[in-house]
Amino acid sequence: MDVLEAIKTRRSVRKFLDRPVEPEKLQVVLEAARMAPSWANMQCWRFVVVQDQEVKARISELSYVEAYFATRGYKSNPSQKALAQAPVVIVACADPMQSGDIHGGDYYMADLGIAAENLMLAAHAVGLGTVFVGVFDEEHLRELLSIPSNIRIVGLFPLGYPVEGGKAGPPRKPLEEIVFHGRWNG
Ligand SMILES: Cc1cc2nc3c(=O)[nH]c(=O)nc-3n(C[C@H](O)[C@H](O)[C@H](O)COP(=O)(O)O)c2cc1C
Repeated sequence: MDVLEAIKTRRSVRKFLDRPVEPEKLQVVLEAARMAPSWANMQCWRFVVVQDQEVKARISELSYVEAYFATRGYKSNPSQKALAQAPVVIVACADPMQSGDIHGGDYYMADLGIAAENLMLAAHAVGLGTVFVGVFDEEHLRELLSIPSNIRIVGLFPLGYPVEGGKAGPPRKPLEEIVFHGRWNG
């Protein structure tokens, strides 16, 4: 699949077939994340691949953060079931000490964002689906997966063969609204 085609047709997938992900395809997805650009090529990312059903079920529980969702009128994280149902969950982590902190920015978030998009596009290109899950109970997830306290967990990616397909997805703002020419608001 052409990269522009992949960018255009990728969608967040939250329902998966009861079909395992072949190890070769999982490898393709992880390899795509590995090849992402990063601050000074420091590659601060680490990925925990979870396939155990009980652990995935616990991760799913930890994706509902009441303080976040209840105040927004959600009963659950829209991806909560997906985390238990998908055959694979990739937990994307970062070591902030291995990235930039200039301009007050935590560039590990940028590094992980780029790796995440590579991961999602590669999944789509090989016929799999995933979604970036950014809301979860980081502290308890760290405990569950024995992730050290200096490591941040940035995103969870349930991965599998999609049930849904061909939906348009939520609209994007038009370019006129987000692109300025020459100066701010120009
Ligand atoms: C940083 C980030 C965090 C996200 N967190 C969640 C989440 O916790 N739960 C969820 O269901 N979707 C989550 N999403 C998915 C977005 O809702 C989705 O990408 C957006 O609505 C656009 O839809 P599309 O991916 O189908 O184009 C997240 C996406 C990003 C980039």
